[in-house]
Amino acid sequence: MSNEAISEVLARHDTRAAREFFNANRNRDLQHLPGDWGWPVLGHVPAVLRDAHGFMNRQYARYGKLFVFNSPLNRGVMMLGPEANELLFKNEGNRFSNFLAWDITFRNIFDNNVLEMDFSGHKSHRKMLQLAFKRPAIEGHIALMNPLLQAGVAGLPLASEFRMMPFIKRLLLNVGAEVFLGEKVSEATEHLNQAFVDMVSATADPFKRRIPFTPYYKGIAGRRALTDFIRENIDKKRALAGRDLFSQLCHLRDDDGSQFSDEEIGDHVIFVLFAAHDTTTSALSSVLFSLADNPGWQDAVYEEIRRIGKEEIDHDDLDTMSDTSLVLQEALRMYPPLSLMPRYALHEFEFEGHRIPANTTCAISPLFTHYMEEHWSHPQQFDPLRFAPERAEEKQHFFQYIPFGGGAHKCLGLHFAQVQGKLFLYHFLRRYRVTKQPGQVFKYNNVPLTFPTNGLPLTLTAR
Ligand code: HEM
Repeated sequence: MSNEAISEVLARHDTRAAREFFNANRNRDLQHLPGDWGWPVLGHVPAVLRDAHGFMNRQYARYGKLFVFNSPLNRGVMMLGPEANELLFKNEGNRFSNFLAWDITFRNIFDNNVLEMDFSGHKSHRKMLQLAFKRPAIEGHIALMNPLLQAGVAGLPLASEFRMMPFIKRLLLNVGAEVFLGEKVSEATEHLNQAFVDMVSATADPFKRRIPFTPYYKGIAGRRALTDFIRENIDKKRALAGRDLFSQLCHLRDDDGSQFSDEEIGDHVIFVLFAAHDTTTSALSSVLFSLADNPGWQDAVYEEIRRIGKEEIDHDDLDTMSDTSLVLQEALRMYPPLSLMPRYALHEFEFEGHRIPANTTCAISPLFTHYMEEHWSHPQQFDPLRFAPERAEEKQHFFQYIPFGGGAHKCLGLHFAQVQGKLFLYHFLRRYRVTKQPGQVFKYNNVPLTFPTNGLPLTLTAR
């Protein structure tokens, strides 16, 4: 199949033909490019899992902005800096595919998701999905989330170390069950939560074999449980107009009146649940550590909360929390939840004077870009004011700040994430001050997502 024909296949989202193409054509011949192959069999996986940022800094110092990477599942190139981000995100002439890059992570777990769709097919699904993220829909979500978050943060243990990350993860899972699936939290939703957690673990399984008890095997069973739930409830959702995402997707209509099929609704709901959950857990963990580490900023955020002073808040209230926005932006700079993003080159191209052959997997990195000294003043420092209009450091290059990606696939939930993040901080910091131990540093991994490695112990005191 020619590279032109594969573009058609990808736009149709013909996954079988696309996978055959991938198996027959993917390029592993990268000997002419800078870099090394890392460990036998495992390649660079141990180094990336241990310290992704350190790995990229080392390779950059040795080889420059382009170097090869190697893992048991794939080989490819890493491309660093805003120019690389621009090339892949702008994707002029549809030269890069998302499906052929992301399928290795999502196959049989999050199939047919919007992130792995390409070109015209992606455009039409995204256009429809976007309707579910407009302001009126988000206002409905805020109304759903207020009481859940308020109740969820009540009665936390005071004056001793409390592991924040598992708490946030659990709370957002419960909120997600209601906001995305329309299910009130109960014992019955517990199996859905578990199914979802198993699916997420399966995406990070580096071997992806259907062998009993492996994360991948459990993830496939998890997908079955969630798709069964969608199938059993879809008629009910189509009949009623609810504020949850599942209901909304059942009622969306495109300009020509077309609707998503039952399967498409299931695939999209399940993926949005995934795209929203760990990313926001990661972001809020980073924000809480940053606020514990920078009490002056915690006071500024608290002052915004005190000024609003209501039990339940709406979108207009959230819009007044401008210091909180700066804090969120800075935490996402320093600790972007996705530290790497892949694409697959359908055509040969040049970067940094090197020829990258067609059918090569390419990865770019928000994490690396967010710390480049050429683009940020004192990038190691937590300094939310760098995003204030007077300084606007992030605007020097359109692609230097990319926690939500860019181009056609830029995060659909960007607005929702900011709203949910602020709403959580509103209810949480209204009740508690959060502090860290003297000398405590933020311990985290960046792969598969940026997460504290020790559960993020912090101490809460009542306001
Ligand atoms: C702080 C939280 C979040 C971060 C940092 C984040 C980050 C990202 C990034 C980097 C991408 C693009 C990946 C790529 O181009 O390869 C993406 C895509 C996406 N995100 Fe988010 N995300 C967050 C929260 C959310 C939330 C809350 C939702 C939904 C409610 C969501 C839904 C999506 C969807 C549907 C896509 C795929 C869009 C497309 O392919 O057209 N995300 N996100």
